[in-house]
Amino acid sequence: MSEDICPLTQVREGKAVIQVCDLSAYADEKGYVDPAWAPVFYNPRMSCSRDISSAVVGAYAELRGRSLTVADILCATGVRGIRYALENEGVAVAYLNDIDPRCYHLASRNIRLNGLEGRAMAFNYDAVKFLLEHRRIDVIDVDPFGSPARFVDPALRAISHGGMLCVTATDTAALMGKYPGACLRKYSSLCRLTEFSREIAVRVLLQFVAREAAKLGITVKPLISYYMDHHVRVCVQAFRKKPDYEWLASRLGYLVYHPQTLHRQLVRLGELEQLKLGEGYEVVGPLWVGGFADGSFVEKVLRIFLERIELGYCKRGVKLLTHLREEASGAPFYYTTDSVTARYRLQSEVSVERLVKLLSERGFPSSRTHFDGKGFRTSAPLEVILEAFRELSARS
Ligand SMILES: C[S@@+](CC[C@H](N)C(=O)[O-])C[C@H]1O[C@@H](n2cnc3c(N)ncnc32)[C@H](O)[C@@H]1O
Repeated sequence: MSEDICPLTQVREGKAVIQVCDLSAYADEKGYVDPAWAPVFYNPRMSCSRDISSAVVGAYAELRGRSLTVADILCATGVRGIRYALENEGVAVAYLNDIDPRCYHLASRNIRLNGLEGRAMAFNYDAVKFLLEHRRIDVIDVDPFGSPARFVDPALRAISHGGMLCVTATDTAALMGKYPGACLRKYSSLCRLTEFSREIAVRVLLQFVAREAAKLGITVKPLISYYMDHHVRVCVQAFRKKPDYEWLASRLGYLVYHPQTLHRQLVRLGELEQLKLGEGYEVVGPLWVGGFADGSFVEKVLRIFLERIELGYCKRGVKLLTHLREEASGAPFYYTTDSVTARYRLQSEVSVERLVKLLSERGFPSSRTHFDGKGFRTSAPLEVILEAFRELSARS
């Protein structure tokens, strides 16, 4: 059957050897090919994100200290679930599911190719049906085309107490506020384009997961969230414990933002009643305004990731995780040096490195951010940031 699906070629990712459709067979006359044009989806550019995802499963297995059941409910070739099982001893069973029979056949073949019979199983269901029939899964991976919104509720219902739900979203234009209508429709959030839209995307997705969970009496704790190559990914630990008013009111809130001056203020739901909007301010949200990553968890992921560099894990994953570890406990809503320079008509852009150092020396915890090479996160008020810019410009 697999031979009838598409011309096959073999790729190596981490410890896995995977048969995938040969993308060159689907290229247009200019040689361009979108991975979605092949009958079974495989995007080689997502391999770095899968490296991080597999290290995240490794860190989570350490955290739980027991063997795990994982499910890749939208598996395509099965590469994700197969890697989770091959690279992490803590994974006892991996379920690979896809609605498309061609994916089911290729995933089954890839399970055999990697000697995982008995440890990994392929299924050919609609993901929602699969989740209805499988309960208490420790790790559920939701990696769809576009928005994951409709899979979050069924995934939360199927997750074990303390389990980890990982959700990928590629509809970043909606999440980042380019299409506010799509964001409101899918995530019930008012999104606006800002210079820190990548962080907004993560916080919109997290608030959506947290609210879907809350209605089911589940509390979530973000373990790691990031933006990479036009997708957003969040992994949360889910506890079957009703979140109370205080918990929700301190973790959900709105951003009040002035696009002309870059002033921003975070307003938690519990503080909304006292809010008075000044002229020119916009409201963005609801957003997740708690931490979007747990520093000690990211530290574990980074250690595991570094141990796997010999497996071919991507170098830029190290950079992303290093920045993420630094910014995990930082102030929300990063700035970028180019937006500050442009908005305040400063003479020259300053080095992010030097700016972060100076602001930290002034007593304001500051860091770079993985979201943007020109981004910085700081607890300093805008006036202090501008003063630091002027000082650094004068020195150079
Ligand atoms: C983006 S691809 C998955 C990529 C894969 N996780 C990876 O890392 O390579 C999305 C997959 O979801 C499958 N799919 C779409 N709707 C589905 C549904 N309702 N239930 C199960 N699978 C579905 C598609 O057939 C497709 O293979």
